[in-house]
Amino acid sequence: MEKIEVVENRDNVREHAPHPRKVAVVGAGKVGSTFAYALLLSGLVGEIVLIDIDHKRAEGEAMDLNHAMPLSHPTRIWAGDYPDCAGADVVVVAAGTAQRPGETRLDLVKRNAAIFNDIIPRITAHNQTGILLLATNPVDVLSYVAWKASGFPLQRVIGSGTVLDTARFRYLLGEHLGVDPRNVHAHVIGEHGDSEVPIWSLATVAGMRLDDFCRRENCDLGPEIRVRISEQTRDAAYEIIQRKGATHYAVAVGLLRIVESILRDQHTVLAVSSLVPGYYDIEDVYLSLPAVVSRGGVERVLHLPLNEQETEALRKSAAVLRGVLDELEHREGA
Ligand SMILES: NC(=O)c1ccc[n+]([C@@H]2O[C@H](COP(=O)([O-])OP(=O)(O)OC[C@H]3O[C@@H](n4cnc5c(N)ncnc54)[C@H](O)[C@@H]3O)[C@@H](O)[C@H]2O)c1
Repeated sequence: MEKIEVVENRDNVREHAPHPRKVAVVGAGKVGSTFAYALLLSGLVGEIVLIDIDHKRAEGEAMDLNHAMPLSHPTRIWAGDYPDCAGADVVVVAAGTAQRPGETRLDLVKRNAAIFNDIIPRITAHNQTGILLLATNPVDVLSYVAWKASGFPLQRVIGSGTVLDTARFRYLLGEHLGVDPRNVHAHVIGEHGDSEVPIWSLATVAGMRLDDFCRRENCDLGPEIRVRISEQTRDAAYEIIQRKGATHYAVAVGLLRIVESILRDQHTVLAVSSLVPGYYDIEDVYLSLPAVVSRGGVERVLHLPLNEQETEALRKSAAVLRGVLDELEHREGA
């Protein structure tokens, strides 16, 4: 009799204990596995499941990660399949083919859209309540494809967008200005790609616009330097891919930052990619603007007071993305 009570009590405790947070990673290549590694070290979740068309690769990554677990955080990590997406708070998708040297992100679209139209319904068949976080390039176009294929509300379909480009911009500005990049507030918006728009007019350090900062601190941030920093931000992926074949560390930490804000309901302002109906007259594309990210996903998108040049550049970026979607939709309809 006493024994039964103990069991009942245990069940009761289990029932009321918070369920361990779970993240599924679809595509356990360089980006997916580096993200899983960062996630393990963060101690944010109790379960990480890796899913890949190359199941052996996912198994190998899970084994390797498991051996880091006794030295980091208790986490259940395994190689699974789509049914294992059930119960995941966030499903991160980094499956697809990577950019080849010299290839633009937009060149990748056809190959990766077909993969997304296959895998997104397989995820949503087992998970109707989680958040889809997409990293595969071209991330804005594929986030739109994922949103359509999922049938999810747009708040729960998020592209990693220009979180990475924004980090690169802040790093370069921090280096140039001689301050910790974490103290540089600046954003890159629009496409994660060639038409992205660094927002110089609103960038600040210690609450000072950059012109004020440089006047007081006697630093040079003239037009030539701005062009150089903008170009280095935009072309960083090409430069890294030429040297080492892929980029994965910074994007993995960017994904972790987004996941942390979701799981901890942090309301962090991040330049994620989402549908931004009516912003600056932009319709029916996914692109990045600073957005408040919380437990429910993209809570709201912030309307920046852009100058004329930046507004024009953002509209052009949206037109580039809409053009690719038009081509894709036209081809699918044909
Ligand atoms: N959003 C960003 O900021 C950002 C940054 C870097 C890379 N990326 C993108 O991330 C993606 C992955 O890059 P990577 O370097 O990890 O490539 P990778 O080739 O190392 O990994 C891709 C993985 O996807 C798997 N895969 C392919 N088709 C699949 C399918 N149908 N179902 C399940 N898994 C499948 C492959 O087996 C492979 O393991 C690329 O599209 C790349 O351009 C995005």
